[in-house]
Amino acid sequence: MQYKKNNEVKTIFNKVSCKYDFLNTLLSLGLHKSWKNKLVDILKPIDGENWADLCCGTGDLSFLIFKKIRPNGTVTGIDSAKEILNIARKRSESIKKKGIYWEMQDIFDIDENLKMYDGICMSYGLRNLVNVEEGLKKVFNLLSDQGRAGFLDFNHSKLNSLSDIFQKIYLRLVVVPISKIFKLNKEYSYIEKSIKNFPEGNKLILIAKGVGFRKVAYRTIFCNQMGILILEK
Ligand SMILES: C[S@@+](CC[C@H](N)C(=O)[O-])C[C@H]1O[C@@H](n2cnc3c(N)ncnc32)[C@H](O)[C@@H]1O
Repeated sequence: MQYKKNNEVKTIFNKVSCKYDFLNTLLSLGLHKSWKNKLVDILKPIDGENWADLCCGTGDLSFLIFKKIRPNGTVTGIDSAKEILNIARKRSESIKKKGIYWEMQDIFDIDENLKMYDGICMSYGLRNLVNVEEGLKKVFNLLSDQGRAGFLDFNHSKLNSLSDIFQKIYLRLVVVPISKIFKLNKEYSYIEKSIKNFPEGNKLILIAKGVGFRKVAYRTIFCNQMGILILEK
C-alpha cells in the first residue's frame, strides 16, 4: 500500500539525525522540551502502563514517558529511520533499568495482533506520515480498550492568519537560513510543505472521530504555532 512507503521522509531523517537534537533546541530556543512536557502532563501516564512513542526520533517523548511509568511499566520507541533511532539507543545506554525499548519499524508495519498499548504518543510524527487518517487508524488499532493517545505537532493555521504569516516568516527567515549553515536547508525547507499538507485542527478532529475515537480534543499552544491532539478510545 502506498502509505507504507515514504522513503523521502526516511532519507531526510537519516540525514539530519546527527544534528537533529541540536537544531531542534536551537531553532525552538529550547521550547520544544516544554511542549513535549505539556503533552505528557495532559496524557498522565502512570506506573505500570505500557506505552509506545511512534515516530520517536531520538526518543525525547519516550524518556519523558519512561519517568512516569517506571518501575513496572514499559515504553517502546518506534521509528523507521535507523540513524536517528541509534541516537535514541545511545541515549538510553545510561539507563540501567528495564522498561525502555527501541524498535526500527515503519509504524504501518506494526503487527496489530501482537501489540496492545495503554497509551500512544507522537511528537512531530503525524505530519510526516504519508496518510494521516491511516496513521490514526493504526493508533486506534494498537490501543487497548480505554487507551489514550496524544500528538504534538505544528498547528496548520488558517491561510493568511497572523499565526500562519508568523510561521512562514519564521520558517523561511530563521529555520531554513540557520539550517543552511549545517548544509541541511533542503531538508528543513520540507517543514513548510509538510505543514501545508497537514490537516487543520478541525479537520484532524473529524478524521479522528471518523476513525472511531470516542473522545477527541484539539488545542493550540504557543500562540497557535503548535497543536496538541488528544484522543480516547
Ligand atoms: C520530526 S521527527 C520527530 C522525532 C521525535 N518524535 C521528536 O519529537 O523529536 C519525525 C520522525 O518520524 C519518523 N517517521 C516518519 N514516518 C514514519 C513511519 N511511517 N514509521 C516510523 N517512523 C516514521 C522519522 O524517521 C522521524 O524520526
